[in-house]
Amino acid sequence: MLAGLLAGRPALAQLPDPAAQRLGLVPLPRAVTAPAGAYELPQKISIYAVSPDERNVANLLKDMLTALGKPAVLTTSRAAAQIRLATAPAAAGPEGYRLVVDRAGVQITAAGGAGLFYGAQTLLQLLPARPGARVRVPYVRIADQPAFRWRGAMLDVSRHFFPVEFVKKYIDFLAAYKLNTFHWHLTDDQGWRIEIKKYPRLTQVSAFRQETLVGPQQLFKTPAEFKYDGTPYGGFYTQAQIREVVAYAQRRYVTIVPEIEMPGHSVAVLAAYPELACKPGPYATWTMWGVNEDIVCPTEPTFRFFEDVLTEVCALFPGPYVHIGGDESPKVRWKESAAVQEIMKREGFDDVEKVQGWFNRRIEKFLQAKGKKLVGWDEILEGGISASATVMSWRGEKGGIEAAKHGNDVVMTPTTNLYIDYGQNPRPHSPYEPLMIGGYLPLDKIYNYNPLPKELTPAQQKHILGPQANMWTEYITTPEKVEFMLFPRLLAVSEVAWTPAAQKSYDAFLPRMGQQFARLDARRINYRVPEPLGLDSASQVRQGDRAVFTLRSLVPGAQIRYTLDGTLPDETTALFRNTLAVPLNRRLTVRAVTVAPNGRKSAPAELLVK
Ligand code: ACM
Repeated sequence: MLAGLLAGRPALAQLPDPAAQRLGLVPLPRAVTAPAGAYELPQKISIYAVSPDERNVANLLKDMLTALGKPAVLTTSRAAAQIRLATAPAAAGPEGYRLVVDRAGVQITAAGGAGLFYGAQTLLQLLPARPGARVRVPYVRIADQPAFRWRGAMLDVSRHFFPVEFVKKYIDFLAAYKLNTFHWHLTDDQGWRIEIKKYPRLTQVSAFRQETLVGPQQLFKTPAEFKYDGTPYGGFYTQAQIREVVAYAQRRYVTIVPEIEMPGHSVAVLAAYPELACKPGPYATWTMWGVNEDIVCPTEPTFRFFEDVLTEVCALFPGPYVHIGGDESPKVRWKESAAVQEIMKREGFDDVEKVQGWFNRRIEKFLQAKGKKLVGWDEILEGGISASATVMSWRGEKGGIEAAKHGNDVVMTPTTNLYIDYGQNPRPHSPYEPLMIGGYLPLDKIYNYNPLPKELTPAQQKHILGPQANMWTEYITTPEKVEFMLFPRLLAVSEVAWTPAAQKSYDAFLPRMGQQFARLDARRINYRVPEPLGLDSASQVRQGDRAVFTLRSLVPGAQIRYTLDGTLPDETTALFRNTLAVPLNRRLTVRAVTVAPNGRKSAPAELLVK
């Protein structure tokens, strides 16, 4: 009985060695030892690099050192260098690396460019966050490699458009935390964002909408309550810009997965090419959010259109995957369409959902002929999928589990754990957060996610390529808001993707995450300042007629300010020092905020004490 109980308990995480933990590295490397001592880099640094990948990583490292006030040069003289990059076949796989810092300097060894790049990213986290006179690198011996090969984050540029400069920054964010896949959601009902030479109306018409819904659509009871801003909105990337972003990502070992939605989420296409619809238009690029019944008709002109589009897309993106969407495609129009009835009769389908499966398989054959693999949202399972399609499981893990059992590859991105457009404050539609889609996704729920479902056998688990976080942007209108939703949650996503489950511990993660805030500040990233911890009934200690709280902040160097009178704390209200004692003779609301060293404040933590 006892043995049975113990067997059913989750394995305790192996906590990192305290010296390794103090380094504050995110994601936590596989194996770290941190002997006493540090290597001081000279004022002018030489980086030894010979092969093209070594030189690429050395040049990126040089730029990052320059930003720290340390000029660096590349050298082909090993003896003259303080930082040495070396390529050597390694047991650590294509993305693993070894990093040694000792009296002889810094040595990064990997089987190829990606591993060298991740070694360089780890090295950067060992350097001071800000420029300073001396740069001392703690002695370490690190052997590291990722848990998953697909470590993704998506950015929706359709609902709101983000300029090339910010897309590059987003790629930098992923790369800094060792993610390797950027899913670029380029098309949707609210705007088509990629230039296609053969279809100029996509960028003349589909890339723009007349106006945009104002406020949280999900809170309005009827469309009569909808209000619009009256301002035309749009934008797109030229093919030259796409090539620039692809090259930028390649240099950072990030693969881009372009997404071209079909057959749903495509009313913007119909605005420009209404002949691809099942019923006559006109159509307009959508100005609100949700699921639109006007999807493309699965007829020959539609195949021709998407094949032409995908021909240009495949030529622009060198990665192995093309995402075709496939989600949220209501079949209202297809059921009414004589053309679709005709297809069903011809193909012997008794269910209109099977038409989407047939559509997808035909598109997949086309992509395969171009050497590309198809990825689709988990709805692609419903019409029957080929053995070779990759499924992105978003409506929980169910689709991913079914697909892996079926032998298909899977990317796990369940709304419950990885939709980072969901809120970060327990209060729905909190006045302290920007407008967002609703739902609450706290940091620990992201951190504790394990992409390998227990329902799968080890052989089936091999089909789980890895996790991906999704940033939908209906309400995330600016780069600043993307940063607010992304940080610090991206750091949790990073450990979900990189660190084996047995080595993960949320309690050990939090202080390492805390050490990253100074780095985010140095890069002027608009992270969400976390509320103080410890203001909850479970943490309260009774001392006579008082409740005593010990508050703490996850941000090193932050102040905690509080009030007992229901007002919002700020820099002028009481400063928390050691403990906070609250009289119990009346009901009152305690509010406490973190004031970060950069001056920004968190949302208040709140507790009604009675
Ligand atoms: C999705 O969130 N509609 C994939």
